[in-house]
Amino acid sequence: MTGYSHLLPAYRQYAEMGIEERIAWIRADRWLETADARAALARLEDLLTYPPRDRMPCLLLYGDTGMGKTKIIRKFLRDHQPVFDRGTGVTSMPVVAMQMPAEPVERDVYGELLNALSAPGPSGDATYRLKTTCRTLMRRIGVRMLIIDEIHAMLTGTYRQQRVFLNVIRFLANDLKVPLICAGTDLARQALLTDPQLAERFEAFHLKRWSNTPQLAQLLASLGSILPLREPSQLGTAALRRKVLDMTDGVTVRIFRLIETVAVEAVRNGKEAITLESFDGDNLILPLVAMARRTEGRLQRRATQ
Ligand SMILES: Nc1ncnc2c1ncn2[C@@H]1O[C@H](COP(=O)(O)OP(=O)(O)O)[C@@H](O)[C@H]1O
Ligand SMILES: [Mg+2]
Repeated sequence: MTGYSHLLPAYRQYAEMGIEERIAWIRADRWLETADARAALARLEDLLTYPPRDRMPCLLLYGDTGMGKTKIIRKFLRDHQPVFDRGTGVTSMPVVAMQMPAEPVERDVYGELLNALSAPGPSGDATYRLKTTCRTLMRRIGVRMLIIDEIHAMLTGTYRQQRVFLNVIRFLANDLKVPLICAGTDLARQALLTDPQLAERFEAFHLKRWSNTPQLAQLLASLGSILPLREPSQLGTAALRRKVLDMTDGVTVRIFRLIETVAVEAVRNGKEAITLESFDGDNLILPLVAMARRTEGRLQRRATQ
């Protein structure tokens, strides 16, 4: 294979593919280890090896929607999959991630937990029985960490339901002797803080919006070194970083979608590289959020003209 020295060796082969294949490649779901994601994963690893004790530390991973919380949790789950022991015939599941129930109701929380343990419970059972079953099962399969994503969904409940839900969280954190990890928005953090015991127990990890930092430069450079464009992109300039921040407000999902969009366009129009001009094309079909901001900006400009 010749050239493509702007790409990492393992990714050069993809630049050889045809237009449609490369577009599909650009749009495919992937994991990229950003600076914050790496730090969050390291924190989770650390908590996983924490020896059981009376008051286990808990972690709240919080940040705006689209900052990559669920991605981090999925990656952590992939790194700690259930293991089947052939000798004992027992499956151990070190990390369990459960869904938030549609309504923050106690028995539904246990119902979801049983689901996550691959043991959907008899739905007619009383709450305390579901609770006991959860507890027993978790011990039996060697759960060492419990993760609850989208914890802010509790805010859809009534005030009373929210108090009850926080009690359930407190019970899980106190009783199971495993670190409890919650992920959600800042509103979830504020809700957790209203419970003094939980506030004391939870450490907070904030996934901050991107700003013009070396970490952003690193993210753009990584994208430039894997996206299958045949010419080197100009993702390393300060002007381009500012442009990206301006169009995305520093939200991870928007940055990924924006770069993917201009990369696809660069494949289609034959330019084969991302440059500052790539972001100006009026025919650029941008993700909704970025688009809304651009239109807003244009209207504002028009209004001041
Ligand atoms: N580390 C990452 N690697 C690749 N894509 C990511 C990463 N973080 C976020 N994304 C992109 O952003 C989208 C939203 O991320 P998600 O984890 O669902 O955000 P949140 O849970 O904080 O709302 C993902 O579907 C993915 O396309
Ligand atoms: Mg999420």
